[in-house]
Amino acid sequence: MNVLVTGGTGYIGSHTCVSLLQAGHSVVIVDNLSNSSRETLEQIESITGEEVMFYENDVTDEKTMDEIFTHHSFDGVIHFAGFKAVGESVNLPSKYYRNNLLSTIVLADLCLKHNVEKFVFSSSATVYGENASPMVESMELLPTTNPYGETKAMSERILSDISKANPNFHVSLLRYFNPVGAHESGLIGESPNGIPNNLMPYVTQVAKGIREKLSVFGDDYDTVDGSGVRDYVHVMDLAEGHIAALEHLEEGVRVYNLGTGKGTSVLELVEAFEQVNQVPVPYDIVQRRPGDLATCFADASKAENELGWTAKRGIQDMCRDAWNYQSRSSQEALSENER
Ligand code: WQD
Repeated sequence: MNVLVTGGTGYIGSHTCVSLLQAGHSVVIVDNLSNSSRETLEQIESITGEEVMFYENDVTDEKTMDEIFTHHSFDGVIHFAGFKAVGESVNLPSKYYRNNLLSTIVLADLCLKHNVEKFVFSSSATVYGENASPMVESMELLPTTNPYGETKAMSERILSDISKANPNFHVSLLRYFNPVGAHESGLIGESPNGIPNNLMPYVTQVAKGIREKLSVFGDDYDTVDGSGVRDYVHVMDLAEGHIAALEHLEEGVRVYNLGTGKGTSVLELVEAFEQVNQVPVPYDIVQRRPGDLATCFADASKAENELGWTAKRGIQDMCRDAWNYQSRSSQEALSENER
């Protein structure tokens, strides 16, 4: 298939492009490089040996996106492009609603205009809100604690309504749990701008000496050791889940959890990281982070039953590959007084 991948130079997008190319699909990437770099294109090509067509473009710009759709006959779209910093979304809600919702609507309308029938959407477990784990696709969604999460829930509803009104527009909504790790080559991975919000990139930066120590956000939750429990899923497993979703997408609207079905606590992850990589990760226990759930993990059975997809890589693989990427990256350790 010829696949349009929006946000394809981003963390999950770039890994999915590698999997698409290695599965024999062709890829056209559109990305405005607001949170990624053009260098990722070279890495994708060096890993796969395949050329990638790239447009530096804003997905909300209907005119230029229409020209791209006219120039290429896409068989499907995978829509990753979107702002995703939870904290920032609380401070800049209109930026998030405008970008994340308008990009989704523009793409869906252009799919209808150009008869592109398959649309895979990058959603998030955040849409479950404060439901109790394991999270099941049929659950009623509850309000999230932030505009970012609301844009995911709203985008799901927008795409579902458009599909119901247009029998030839089929949608697969993929709810990611906690994507971590990197391609085994270490050439692509997660490199957030500034101070990492998420656990794993913060851990790898502490291990490399870029940050002094990890702050563990609370150890008084009702969990195995008091720290937060999440369903970490290797980004390559996630990428392969997109291929399965695209290739199985026939009729109507499908919703799938992409997770391992297993919960791991912050302290368990830190311990696994230190053991696998033989590198210390000093930490302090601090106050809980507002909005955090104690526990969030998937019921992963639907993707297994309907897509034949399950996560194959474990926590050790995630820790090894995340560290391999960080170790190879040019980010240097800060001096004592810079940390
Ligand atoms: C994981 C655990 C923290 C950082 C977020 C978004 C979600 C999705 C994935 C986009 C929690 C703890 C973290 C740190 C810590 N993103 N932690 N110290 O919050 O589960 O999900 O990222 O789709 O939408 O909400 O991921 O990595 O931030 O936190 O103790 O410095 O690690 O409390 O228990 P989260 P996270």
